[in-house]
Amino acid sequence: MKISSPGRVNLIGEHTDYSLGYVMPLAINLYTYLEGERYENVILHSRTIGEKGFFDPESFTREGNWLDYPKGIYFSLQKRGYMPGGLKGEIYGTLPIGAGLSSSASLELAILEFLNQEYNLNLSRMDEALIAKDAENEFVGVPCGIMDQMAIALGKRGTALFIDTENLEYEYIPFPKNLKILVFDTGVRRELSHSSYWERRNTVLSALEKLKKSSSKYVSLEDLEKLSEKEKIRMGYVIRENQRVLDAKDALRNYDWEMLGSLLLEAHWDLAENFGVSCDELDFFVKAAMKYGALGARLTGAGFGGSAIALFEDPENVGEKIKREYERKFMHHAKYYMVVPSDGVGKCMD
Ligand code: GLA
Repeated sequence: MKISSPGRVNLIGEHTDYSLGYVMPLAINLYTYLEGERYENVILHSRTIGEKGFFDPESFTREGNWLDYPKGIYFSLQKRGYMPGGLKGEIYGTLPIGAGLSSSASLELAILEFLNQEYNLNLSRMDEALIAKDAENEFVGVPCGIMDQMAIALGKRGTALFIDTENLEYEYIPFPKNLKILVFDTGVRRELSHSSYWERRNTVLSALEKLKKSSSKYVSLEDLEKLSEKEKIRMGYVIRENQRVLDAKDALRNYDWEMLGSLLLEAHWDLAENFGVSCDELDFFVKAAMKYGALGARLTGAGFGGSAIALFEDPENVGEKIKREYERKFMHHAKYYMVVPSDGVGKCMD
């Protein structure tokens, strides 16, 4: 059986999911593929990184490498009482690793979907998202929110996925065919276990606790006055970003691309100046994309490097032009992709 599992970009709603706010990601047509069959143990060969790995599906020692993603899936399944058998498989694909496009959630969901189909686990897409998040949080040790897993499990061609991460309700918002999404991988790598992600998350969560609110959706401007200077700045960003997600949803519904673009751009500079998760490389891309006529551009994912997106009506050779200017300035490679909103994880028919 062959499974294809997409990556994701986040259109808007960054660093809002762990405080149970709004997000609007979409699954993209860059994939992790898993070609596998039943087996007693788990043997995986990752062609992408050129390594083989082996483990017993009932042993849960962490390896500190990519095998922790499939192990984490077994761990979370067994915690919920599922005991699927093993798997022998090849992993390869088009989704770059560590580029802020959710390659880890993509791999986890590829493994999980294979086990779901092969061993008839009867898991819904939402169950899969929750199990994969649990694998990240409890086994791999990354304190992420639910955005990536839901985007990859539930993505639907031609749509963005609006999610209220507090109650996990979601809506498919049609994404216009005339808007093209340029993804730019800066080549700057960061780890999500990175202390800055923890630091942002801890600041936002301790502010929420201080205010006795269950979600950042319920924090008002007046509430900010009860917080420390640092909490005020970070939480201020989060409440503006939650509002921007709602506004971006309306803009998509009203075919107002100018508005959508300006919300993305505003979000980027708010992330850079107040949430402090951008870097020179991401800012350079955003400015260059705007110079070449983007409707809007912003970093996507956790930041600190990784990727950014820009929306164009007519991108021509913009990706190539920006790549050249970028490489001249930063003296290291970048990559770019034109992507479209795509279906979530599933069996591959080719
Ligand atoms: C990473 C995490 C997500 C989310 C983003 C920031 O991608 O996995 O849960 O927190 O960062 O928006």
